[in-house]
Amino acid sequence: MEYFAVQGGVPLEGCAAVHGAKNSALPILAATLLAPGEHIIHNCPDLSDTAAALAILSSLGCRVRREGDTVLVNSTLCQSCGVPDTLMGTMRASVLFLGALLARNGRACACWPGGCALGERPIDLHLRAFQCLGARVQEREGRLCCQGPRLRGCCIQLPFPSVGATENAILAACAAQGYTEILNPARELEIVDLQGFLRSCGAQIWGAGTGRIVVQGGVPLHPGEYSVMPDRIVCATYLCALAAAGGEGEIYAAQAAAVAPVLEALSAAGCQIWETPRGLALRRRGSLWGIGPITTAPYPGFPTDAQPLLAAVLAVGRGESSIRETIFENRFRYACQLRRLGARVRLEGDSAYITGTPLHGALVEAEDLRGGAALTIAALAAQGESRICGLGHIDRGYDRLERALACLGGRIWREED
Ligand code: UD1
Repeated sequence: MEYFAVQGGVPLEGCAAVHGAKNSALPILAATLLAPGEHIIHNCPDLSDTAAALAILSSLGCRVRREGDTVLVNSTLCQSCGVPDTLMGTMRASVLFLGALLARNGRACACWPGGCALGERPIDLHLRAFQCLGARVQEREGRLCCQGPRLRGCCIQLPFPSVGATENAILAACAAQGYTEILNPARELEIVDLQGFLRSCGAQIWGAGTGRIVVQGGVPLHPGEYSVMPDRIVCATYLCALAAAGGEGEIYAAQAAAVAPVLEALSAAGCQIWETPRGLALRRRGSLWGIGPITTAPYPGFPTDAQPLLAAVLAVGRGESSIRETIFENRFRYACQLRRLGARVRLEGDSAYITGTPLHGALVEAEDLRGGAALTIAALAAQGESRICGLGHIDRGYDRLERALACLGGRIWREED
């Protein structure tokens, strides 16, 4: 079994580059089904989740190959409408293949998607969007079957700006005759990236990033070529590692606007952050102090994915901080493991109350993707040796996290028992 070995308590100094965004690459890979032909996706991160998306495309009949950071997907052949259960269970984003297959073949069948156990994670809004477009959705023996050979443009009003439901609505709407209006969509930058890719395929779509997206469906599409945006959560991870362990480092391909709420929180905690010609730099020399309350919210609010990362920083500071989680009900699972490193975290309802204190090395287990990254950050700041197990979770969203953190000056490497 692989684990990260960390010798913590050493200030960082170095630089690392942010790779392409998982949460952009996955919907874009699903969207390659919409236009038969060879798509070229640049800056596609090499993660276990993107490998799973490519395996799903292969299972559907597509030809896929990776050349460095570029992925080529030939979606000319795709007659199947079903995603194999084993692949569907590997990640949450497999749900996006429902919308893509519905658009491509008028039919999609799959079991419920897997992914990090952050709470209930229903997909009712995805299914309602398909129904609104005229698809028939049935659930039989734990399998979902969506049929919509003649989708029609409509107005989809989302009661909550769900990222996945917005993406699925966009994908299916591309095949629906006429105009579809999506009101109260998620405004995440990854949705803007999906729009950018679809436009490169000739899709008529406007408004991503605003409160109203309009898709003119039924337009013939052609293969696209697109470069995936840098991963803002990976960027936040590197920034938080520098903040927690202290020292100074530069992060290439970091975009300040994409991580604005994280920068605000880290500055308030005592970090100096500035833009450089290649990205962002962070310096932390003195003690960190308590901040809060920080409340997670849909974009442009504080991202729920960065919440565990910030908690790791605040755990090593001085003073009291609090974080309120409003998106997922089970997002503090890492707190128990963080305590093994000596962190003082108290959970109460939807909030975590953190009292900064010096941390010490320990053996900890990643239980989900961002929680695992948070433990790695805390281990870098903790005095002594730590071991982080459960790397399968971390590898879902980071392309060799240990290498990037070592480039930032961290004493961290991957070992196998
Ligand atoms: C996406 C991201 C994930 C990130 C999350 C929040 C991808 C592939 N995943 O997840 O990494 O952590 O956004 O930024 O981009 N909800 C419903 N019904 C639905 C759908 C969602 O009630 O049909 C609720 C969820 O339970 C949750 C909230 O809406 O409370 C947010 O979920 P959503 O924005 O859909 O997140 P995901 O797309 O799952």
